[in-house]
Order: sequence, then C-alpha cells, then structure tokens
Amino acid sequence: MSGKSIGVWMSDKKSQKLNWKELIKACNSHGYNLVKLDLERAFEDQGKIDVFLHKLTDLIAAADQGDSKAAKTISRVEQYLSNHTNITVIDPLDNVRILLNRYSYYSILQDESSFKSLGIFTPAFAEFTTSNIERNIEIMRERGVRFPIICKPTIAHGSKSAHEMVLIFNERELSVAKPPCVVQSFVNHNAVLHKVFFVGNRYHICERPSLKNFYASDDLDPIFYTTGEVCKADSQSTLSILDPYDETDIKMTLNEEKIKAIIRVIRKKIGLILAGFDVVIDNVTGNHAVIDINVFPSYDNFPNFFEHLLDCIEDTIQKSNSDCCLEDNEWIEDCGGNHRHNGLINIGGSHNYEVMGMNIM
Ligand SMILES: Nc1ncnc2c1ncn2[C@@H]1O[C@H](COP(=O)(O)OP(=O)(O)O)[C@@H](O)[C@H]1O
Ligand SMILES: [Mg+2]
Repeated sequence: MSGKSIGVWMSDKKSQKLNWKELIKACNSHGYNLVKLDLERAFEDQGKIDVFLHKLTDLIAAADQGDSKAAKTISRVEQYLSNHTNITVIDPLDNVRILLNRYSYYSILQDESSFKSLGIFTPAFAEFTTSNIERNIEIMRERGVRFPIICKPTIAHGSKSAHEMVLIFNERELSVAKPPCVVQSFVNHNAVLHKVFFVGNRYHICERPSLKNFYASDDLDPIFYTTGEVCKADSQSTLSILDPYDETDIKMTLNEEKIKAIIRVIRKKIGLILAGFDVVIDNVTGNHAVIDINVFPSYDNFPNFFEHLLDCIEDTIQKSNSDCCLEDNEWIEDCGGNHRHNGLINIGGSHNYEVMGMNIM
C-alpha cells in the first residue's frame, strides 16, 4: 500500500446505509487506507489524509441557517482544509453550498445559454420571501411563473421539511405557500421522473414514478406531498396515476445527448464530482426540464459505485497535479491524458429502467 489515506465523513444516517466493507475494499484495491473521521475531534489528530470525502450538506445547511454548533464544526473543517490545501476535497464545500439553495442553482441553470437550442430548460421560478400575496402574484408575473405551480422550500437540505412540497392551482390558494420558498411552473410529464446520478464522468439513469399531469384551475385545492411519498422506487401514490384523459401509448423518450449536456454544465458551472439531478420531459414539446440537483445522492442502483468512485478520485488527483483545468470546455477530453475516460460514460447500459411510471406503457 502506498500509505495514502482517504478521510471520510458522513452523517450517522448516511453512514448506516453505506456499505463500508465495499468502500474499504475499493479503497484498499486502489492503494488507499480509509479513515472514518470524527467531527468532534481535531482532524489533525486523526492521521494524515490525502483525500477528504464527505457528505456535509445537512451540517452546512444548518450552519448557514444559524445553528451555532454546526457553524463551529463547519468552520473548523474549513480551517483544516485551508491549512492543508494539498488535500483533494470531494466535493469542495463552496460548490456544495450552491446546491443547498434551490434559487441559486435554478438561476445557474436558467443562465446557461446553450440549453435553449438543445431543448433543455429549467421551468420558470421565483422566490417568495414574504407572505404578501399581492406582491407574490406580481413576482410570479414578472418572472413568467404560471399555474399550476410547485412550491418548494428554498433550502433544499438539512431537514425533512426541505422535501415538503405544495402544488397550487390558483391565486386564491397562494397563501398556503410558506416563505422562504421557491415557486416553479409545473411541467406535465406523464408521471415519469428520470433520475441521473453521476460520479465524475460516469453516469447512470433510472426511472421513478412522479406526479400525474395537472392543469391550472380556480376550483382545485392545494395538494401537499413529500417527495418520498411520490417519487421513491416503491412509492404507490395515487398522485402518480394518470387521469383517463391523459393516458397515452406514446412514451416520451429520454434523449441521452441532452443528459450529457446537462452533466457537462453541472460539472463545469457547479464543479461537483458527486451529484445527481432530476429530469422530467415536457409531454407537449419533448423538451427536458431539469427540476432538481442533489449533492452526493444515494448511489444505491449505480453499478459498482465504489469502484467508479475510486477511479474518479484518482482521476481528480491526477488532474489537480497536471496543468489542465476544469474551466476549459474541452476538459473531459484533455485532462489527465487518460484515454479510458474519453467523454461521458453511461454505466449500466443505455437504459436501465428499474421502475416504470405506474401506468406508462
Ligand atoms: N417543475 C416541476 N414540474 C413537474 N413536477 C415537478 C416539478 N418540480 C418538482 N416536481 C415533482 O416533485 C418532486 C420533488 O421535487 P424536487 O424538486 O425534486 O424536490 P426534492 O429536493 O425533494 O427531491 C419531483 O421529483 C417531481 O416528481
Ligand atoms: Mg428531487
């Protein structure tokens, strides 16, 4: 063994779900020792590390929202990393921060000029910071947000409530939106959600159930739901069952070139190695809407995740040792001189659909 170490930190919850045996095996086979880091103790006392692999999202979110204990912990980690700049951080905390706030990452997606001609978009969105209905109606108008809307907490991590959503069909019910929240135009997508997971330049796509089609209406009451109830592989929500007038034999097909374009943009503009995102396909235009991006998602269905993770960590170290940089458009082809990694690679075949939308043919 080369004597190099990977320091890992994640919450107890994530830690319990993680297959440590597999991770240790992958680390060892790449010549790394794994150190499980304890945030309560100084990192300096826990041995030298070369790579810091973490899922600090909930803690960073808590710190940014004024939790003083979390803030102290995060500032210790940041101090440690700035004292040890040779450590490869997966992923850098400032990049992770971008994804904690829905408004900030939707803005980045919306500003991406290449998306339009590729048939990719992020649905119109706006932020409510107050409960002033008149003002909120105006904000929606200014930003082109149309009913029905999904109202999502602005902070995307840190608590269960970050995934409590409301579908609102008219101005009359706008008062149920609890600020700070982001409201986003609802895109009809025949109840199929495409989840993309990537590890560096390797990606994997799954299908999940999603919400049925909805239309603006003066009569409908708001619908409250949590993401888990509707979109997990085994969710059986009635909200996913298409209405008879929406049933169709025509399946909107996912365009993998679009998926690759989205991955490139996220990697380039947000600078993450471990992330995932959600795509729904507009059932009228076929355009692909990016509705969510997640830091270090659960890679449960990603074939040989740990192997790919370690390969990707090695690539990242190589890249940071060489002169080329991630800002360059051509980075995927140029970096590292590593011919195995020419462009983006779909892991697990072209389409690996474990779950179908409940009534899509
Ligand atoms: N703009 C939208 N149009 C249609 N459905 C959406 C839209 N935004 C979210 N959804 C549905 O709501 C679910 C949860 O929203 P998402 O933004 O992914 O939140 P979370 O952070 O909880 O995963 C999505 O998986 C999808 O089923
Ligand atoms: Mg999501």
